[in-house]
Amino acid sequence: MNKLRLATMIGATALSIGAATMTPAYATSDDYQAFGGHAGVTALINTFVGNVAGDKRINFYFAHTNIPALKAALVAQVCNLEGGGCPFDMSMRAIHAHMGVTQNAFNALAEDMIRAMDTEQIPTAAQNNLLAKLAAMEPEIVTR
Ligand code: HEM
Repeated sequence: MNKLRLATMIGATALSIGAATMTPAYATSDDYQAFGGHAGVTALINTFVGNVAGDKRINFYFAHTNIPALKAALVAQVCNLEGGGCPFDMSMRAIHAHMGVTQNAFNALAEDMIRAMDTEQIPTAAQNNLLAKLAAMEPEIVTR
């Protein structure tokens, strides 16, 4: 199941390269509720950042990062993406420019998110909805 979802994500990435204006699936407050609302998204991001911190493939990228600020930004972003109505206007391209994020690093981070969503028992449809949206950001984040 994990591999299937990751394959879906990578498929969405290929799609987003082909069509730069692709709009990911529209999210409603029902989607946000599938994540457990604010408490659920907060738990998910805590688990996700814990996974990233323990992931030797990518944790060095975050050596100098303000982790509470990162978590707060990610909670707001997932809330915004999943119909929770949180304002979020950070530029993924600007934040990740000059970081040298590789395709492998991006895929590792996606796996860490899938593991976190499994741990937090997010329903599969909701997982796929978020993964498609994250995959669509890949061209703005991967720079080498
Ligand atoms: C779709 C995937 C991704 C999303 C949605 C995302 C989102 C974000 C957001 C919202 C921030 C801002 C946090 C803040 O202002 O405190 C951030 C920062 C950061 N991201 Fe990402 N990111 C993604 C992928 C990646 C990947 C693959 C890496 C490297 C493996 C990465 C490395 C970082 C680092 C190191 C920072 C902190 C920058 C700093 O310390 O100032 N990100 N990311």
